[in-house]
Amino acid sequence: MHVFQTQKELQIELNKTENQSKKIGFVPTMGALHEGHLSLLEQSLAENEITVLSIFVNPTQFNNADDLKKYPRTLEKDVKLVEKLNKKILVYAPSVSDIYEGNTISTSFDYDGLENQMEGKHRPGHFDGVGTIVKKLFEIVKPTNAYFGEKDFQQLQIVRKLVAKHKIQVNIIGCEIFREESGLAMSSRNERLSESARAESKLIYQILSQAKEKFVSKSANDVVLFVEKEFKKHPNFTLEYFEIAAEDTLLTCKRKVKNKKYRGFIAVFIENIRLIDNISLK
Ligand code: PAJ
Repeated sequence: MHVFQTQKELQIELNKTENQSKKIGFVPTMGALHEGHLSLLEQSLAENEITVLSIFVNPTQFNNADDLKKYPRTLEKDVKLVEKLNKKILVYAPSVSDIYEGNTISTSFDYDGLENQMEGKHRPGHFDGVGTIVKKLFEIVKPTNAYFGEKDFQQLQIVRKLVAKHKIQVNIIGCEIFREESGLAMSSRNERLSESARAESKLIYQILSQAKEKFVSKSANDVVLFVEKEFKKHPNFTLEYFEIAAEDTLLTCKRKVKNKKYRGFIAVFIENIRLIDNISLK
């Protein structure tokens, strides 16, 4: 399977006469592909004539140098997985210099406050890096539809805001969280967990599900206290945050408003690995 390594090479392919009027679906990733990524690719394949997958570990969105260094890079294995799914997928795996041309910095973005909540508080500069790479990739691929997982719900909302503010012609499609049988949300970071920590991490979804049940009758604050108390019982976990926030503004829910959609958002460390997840509280 051919892997496009430069934007020029990819654009030559996309600009071919026979491709010019085709719908392009785009799935941006950082690789170390798992079934969650594959579910995005499947949706794109079903809805577009061309599907482009990018694999690029974007340095500007990592606020922690060690996390960037340790991020799994498994291009060969990824390409085999993609090939098995569908040989027609165009894989774009550029180098840092192809993307940043010697200037590996991020632009600063205003997402109307979405960037100041949750992940934004705990990972300074992260969403500037995400906006920078996603905007660049959209300019290169010019997709009709782009697919993002609800696993990173805040990122999904931020990309929607980026597209609206910069009037970028692309439909952003949110895709459901793909989970392991245990309930643990699939993540490239799960690969770094020991077997026992991976098994124990099913607790995250169990507690989120309990929080969802409690939210029917209890206040947001009570549910937050419940989650914090549960994690204290499990010393292998360090809870960074659990928050209940509105889906549109991502502002913390102080008092429930009827018909407003809320989600519970969590970031938790186990074996020094940071896992995030969220659940709709509808
Ligand atoms: P990455 O973490 O590789 O994720 C790529 C896409 O896959 C994201 O849209 C993410 O939300 C989605 N995804 C990951 N795990 C998922 C799961 N279990 N179920 C459903 N979707 C899942 O997110 C990024 O990369 C980067 O920030 C990126 C957008 C590529 C910019 O660098």
